[in-house]
Amino acid sequence: MNPLIFEADNLEATDRLGRALAQALPPGTTVALRGTLGSGKTRLVQAVAESLGVPAGEVVSPTFVLIHEYQGARPIYHLDAYRIADDDEFLELGPDEYFDDPQGLTFVEWADRVERCLPRQRLDVDIDPTGSTSRRFTLRPVGQTLVDVLERLREVLH
Ligand SMILES: Nc1ncnc2c1ncn2[C@@H]1O[C@H](COP(=O)(O)OP(=O)(O)OP(=O)(O)O)[C@@H](O)[C@H]1O
Ligand SMILES: [Mg+2]
Repeated sequence: MNPLIFEADNLEATDRLGRALAQALPPGTTVALRGTLGSGKTRLVQAVAESLGVPAGEVVSPTFVLIHEYQGARPIYHLDAYRIADDDEFLELGPDEYFDDPQGLTFVEWADRVERCLPRQRLDVDIDPTGSTSRRFTLRPVGQTLVDVLERLREVLH
């Protein structure tokens, strides 16, 4: 299937994508975020979390803590693999506990570093800076579960 490409010209557009994801992603979904430093991975998680009722300031980069948990309309787990040395170190965090929570939404920053540890069913999101305030988001479902969700997102975001 074709990926969904969403061109965000500014932060407001990124917030719109975040709201759409908050509405469309079924509980239990894992989102794998990939993109360079400062591309907007944390910013997108903030947008989703805010849309689910988490106060804006609560969502910060989990680079040092590695995992944050926010309680919004559903639990949001926010993981960061930037400082993870290898798969074993990531697995020590017990990520399956988060991936397997049927009520939760899990976001993994620097997901490409721990790709082999991620659920087989997930949404991959690549973020490419295209300007100082613009970002290209490329969304791809991995596995069959989220294929319909992506089609719905395509309609909502076009
Ligand atoms: N359209 C946009 N969408 C997202 N972020 C944007 C946009 N325009 C500008 N920015 C800025 O880009 C930066 C993104 O920072 P953010 O912390 O989200 O990046 P990150 O990918 O999580 O980086 P890191 O790899 O360090 O965790 C913020 O300063 C944000 O304000
Ligand atoms: Mg970040």
